[in-house]
Amino acid sequence: MIYTLIHSNHFENNAHKILQNLGIGNAVLIKNVPTQDNISLLSYCDILGVPSKATIRYPNLQDDFIHIVQDSQVPIKDKNDNIVISSTSQEFDLHTDEYFHSNPADYVLLHCIKADENNGGLSRICFLSKILDKIPEWLYQNLQEEIYPCRKKKTSILFTEKDRLKIKFNPYEILRDCENPIIENAVKELLNIAHQRMIHFALEEGDCLILNNKEVLHGRTAFSKNSGRLLKRVRLNITNIK
Ligand SMILES: [Fe+2]
Repeated sequence: MIYTLIHSNHFENNAHKILQNLGIGNAVLIKNVPTQDNISLLSYCDILGVPSKATIRYPNLQDDFIHIVQDSQVPIKDKNDNIVISSTSQEFDLHTDEYFHSNPADYVLLHCIKADENNGGLSRICFLSKILDKIPEWLYQNLQEEIYPCRKKKTSILFTEKDRLKIKFNPYEILRDCENPIIENAVKELLNIAHQRMIHFALEEGDCLILNNKEVLHGRTAFSKNSGRLLKRVRLNITNIK
């Protein structure tokens, strides 16, 4: 199964199944989620978890924790003066969100309000399980070492949480200012494997994609500057993890 598909009317009755699927590293796609307000999105969040701590420090939020994701014309910069790629129309390669955070978001919800009319901004996802099927032993070992630049610290890309192997990965953050060929090589090889196993699809208006952010990489293709493509994004942590 690539992802579980559910109509928005059936979300609450299927909440247990949705959580189970997310827990084993799958993705869930909810169809026909109303786009005129945030009521449905907020009700899903209520069931799934709590807003991630990194999110609530972010500016320009709707309802305290909903991010507006669109080409902002003048790209937003983070506090280290680096461009936030999700605020542009550029391609965004496979990654997980909140790579820099000690406990990244468990779930990422992406609600499509307006798709790109020219078929740009296609979603790409790659399941960690598909990467692990294909990974050579040297890379598997290397990715578990705490050698990867993560702002001012070092971290591993693969880690274990509750007896499951997880991933935190942002190639832009890792490779920025990195001059270590071992790290560069490992990141390129990981991306290479993930690109071979990723799937592409177009989110339609009203679709809400829910990803396990520690077991699924996501990204998107570029889209035209004036397309009006608009997503709403929420990052959540599971309630019982502090
Ligand atoms: Fe992201």
